[in-house]
Amino acid sequence: MSNKTIILTGDRPTGQLHMGHYVGSLENRVKLQDSHQQFIMIADMQALTDNADNPEKVRSNVVEVALDYLAVGLDPAKTTMFIQSAITELSELTMYYLNLVTVARLQRNPTVKNEMQQKGFGADVPAGFLMYPVSQAADITSFKAKIVPVGEDQLPVIEQTNEIVRKFNSIYGEVLVEAEGLLSTTTRLAGLDGKAKMSKSLGNAIYLADDADTLKKKVMSMFTDPDHLRVEDPGKIEGNMVFAYLDVFGQDKEHIAELKAHYQRGGLGDVKVKRYLLEILDAKFAPIREKRAELAKDKGAVMTMLKEGSYKAKEVAAATLAEVRRAIGVQYF
Ligand code: TRP
Repeated sequence: MSNKTIILTGDRPTGQLHMGHYVGSLENRVKLQDSHQQFIMIADMQALTDNADNPEKVRSNVVEVALDYLAVGLDPAKTTMFIQSAITELSELTMYYLNLVTVARLQRNPTVKNEMQQKGFGADVPAGFLMYPVSQAADITSFKAKIVPVGEDQLPVIEQTNEIVRKFNSIYGEVLVEAEGLLSTTTRLAGLDGKAKMSKSLGNAIYLADDADTLKKKVMSMFTDPDHLRVEDPGKIEGNMVFAYLDVFGQDKEHIAELKAHYQRGGLGDVKVKRYLLEILDAKFAPIREKRAELAKDKGAVMTMLKEGSYKAKEVAAATLAEVRRAIGVQYF
């Protein structure tokens, strides 16, 4: 393995990836793959922790997520993309780590707490869900990743990972490496409807796979200023998604400032600004969706890429597991 700094990150395959993922992480991963040794995991087992009764959703989205990865420019020659369940070593590591964590600590993890609330789990939370941060600690530590690019909500999981690392190392000797979360610098992309977050469950997302027509429909339906009824009326920029997206994706900041001023004065219609935004989004995302459509014609090739990535990842995880077993002393023959 090269001596580049190791990065590990992952996604739960519960749906196709959207522009929020692009802005929040994918774009950054494409940059990172040149300077780092990057592993990206499709976390199907983690997705099953709250989808046990719907394995088909998880299974079918594995290839969809991989298509999104390739379409945005993640390159298998630089980034090792793999499937979590193919690396059985991770499950064994999780079993050893579970002994280093208390149930009370898991219940205090703010990320898990939030998600449990969102999903309506009370005391009936699946045990696998409650302990997914431990499994995620196995994901991270088995690659000795130093950097874990994630959204802010995942920082408590990394904190818990590092607690496990310290505890492991203090009991069994220095084997594991602490990791650091890397937050994306870009602002979070709001939903089409103005809600704070673009998300599949809120139904307010533009997917990387969306065709030109769908993109147009979604842009034309974006939440603007509900009080901006006639073109002549002064309009509001704040909370207006068309301008929010222009701030994220537009290059010509001067022109955007002019548009904003005009909109606020009155005399600029929503449709005109939406057309301008559509042009910008189309220029940026048409090559991605076209590449994705092309790759989708041969899903077998995509699965082969994941298979090769999984072999590579397995070798790395197996080496760490061997060290872990040696350190604990569970090696008898
Ligand atoms: N929990 C992450 C999420 O929901 C996905 C994930 C699984 C992950 N394993 C990981 C992220 C390891 C970073 C590192 O987005």
